[in-house]
Amino acid sequence: MKPFGNLSAQSVTLALALALSASSISGYSPSTHAADAPTPPKAYVQHCAACHGAGGEGGTGPRIIGPGWQHGGDDESMTTSIQRGFPQSGMPPFDAILKADEIKAVIAFLRAQMRASPVPVGWAPGIGDKANIPEGVVKSAVESFRVESIAMLKLPYGMAFLPDGRLLVTESREGTLRIVENGKLLPEPVIGTPLGEPPRDHFRRRMLDVAVHPSNGWIYLSTSEGADGPPGITGQITLSRGHIRDGHWVDSEVLLELPSPEGSGARIAFDKQGRVYFSTVHAPSGEDIPLEKTGPQDLSSSYGKILRLMDDGSVPADNPFVDNKEANPYVWSYGLRSPLGLSVDNQDRLWVAEQGPRGGDELNLILPGRNYGWPVITWGHPYDSKPNSSNTNHPKMEQPVVSWVPSPALSGTAFYDADAFPRWKNSLFVASLKQKTLYRITFDGDMANLQEIILSNLDRIRDVEVGPDGYLYLINDNSGLLRLVPAS
Ligand code: HEC
Repeated sequence: MKPFGNLSAQSVTLALALALSASSISGYSPSTHAADAPTPPKAYVQHCAACHGAGGEGGTGPRIIGPGWQHGGDDESMTTSIQRGFPQSGMPPFDAILKADEIKAVIAFLRAQMRASPVPVGWAPGIGDKANIPEGVVKSAVESFRVESIAMLKLPYGMAFLPDGRLLVTESREGTLRIVENGKLLPEPVIGTPLGEPPRDHFRRRMLDVAVHPSNGWIYLSTSEGADGPPGITGQITLSRGHIRDGHWVDSEVLLELPSPEGSGARIAFDKQGRVYFSTVHAPSGEDIPLEKTGPQDLSSSYGKILRLMDDGSVPADNPFVDNKEANPYVWSYGLRSPLGLSVDNQDRLWVAEQGPRGGDELNLILPGRNYGWPVITWGHPYDSKPNSSNTNHPKMEQPVVSWVPSPALSGTAFYDADAFPRWKNSLFVASLKQKTLYRITFDGDMANLQEIILSNLDRIRDVEVGPDGYLYLINDNSGLLRLVPAS
């Protein structure tokens, strides 16, 4: 489906460029001589081609020869993208691996590729960009549906429905909270949300998840400030709550402030009693630190945890480590890496989807006080230069309910208990970024029963939510807000 996913497709693209001769498409002039095809430097072939394609045209990683940059196509932005990588989405940082002149050579090669490559056929900014939104009826195992585009958004991260049926969506890098009313995106973001100031570092996702309390209408918002890694540089994640009145964020209260190496994780979920669960990502730690002493294993640290708090931000008296003087009293469970999906099911069980390192993504059933193993045990493979383990089990650590190798880069989750798709009842939907897939998982007790791919090669799916209409809503990096509606 993806026309630029491999080397032979790239050759076809170049052939097309030759056939089109010198006519310029949207400012990109195709090459007129095959001899112009630039030669990739060794660093590119060795470190980048596997994910971004032989010529930067894209593969499991995105196209990196423009147009349609996510993180900026100027030299400085590209250098930062390469140095820092995007560990959450599967690109390792290269600051310790490539020297400045090697990075320069890679960028010079990509520039030459931009001059030599035409804009992909059918590329247009806006709805559908880089997403393969299926037309017509999609038949999955037990339900048939159509996919509808609702609104374009800039790198959305989280969404939640208000009791009146309006949908709240966060735009992560913009740092804005948007409202979708009667299927239309309101032009103005909510005014006065916790991130009033302009971004200090536009690479960091700033507005993360949003959730609405099940009974009292408070809106919970996680935001992020500061700089993303490299190790040592950290910022902060804040959990706030407030209300929206006449388009303004009001009654704002800060519930938690935590250090965080990146604007990620920070998913919010509620159980039936309205207690709040909050996920935090791990932080890079030095090579000399034993695995058992890293943040996710350290009960006093807030890294790599599921935290649990009362809806007003206080510590629940029955949290598992409240009597442990050394522990952070909010800790509900620990040993997590990148918990990007957090959902409570109709039996009040908490499910977490998390990303492993190059393989080893996991779905975990979260129980109080339990240790989920990172980085002591994992089913993934270590990135170069990061402390990691090759052990897959430990008597005192939990095993995942589902493990994915290679890694689809799991993201948001939603438990389906609505009526529009009766045969999807009691399923957990799990989105993925790299694999661009929506999974449906059913359970037999605490075990996963069935795993079905509902949509594949769609777009980087950031989050999934069930609407009050029972439709399934998806937010995507490039195609904004979509929804799945029953075919009939
Ligand atoms: C294991 C796969 C993988 C490898 C290896 C990899 N990347 Fe990436 N790269 C990704 C993914 C996935 C993204 C998307 C990150 C995001 O948007 O969250 C990305 C994003 C980028 C971006 C930003 C693109 C944009 O739209 O702004 C650049 C530039 C980039 N990579 C360059 C490189 C270069 C150069 C190398 C080699 C030194 C490299 N990458 C190696 C997977 C990879």
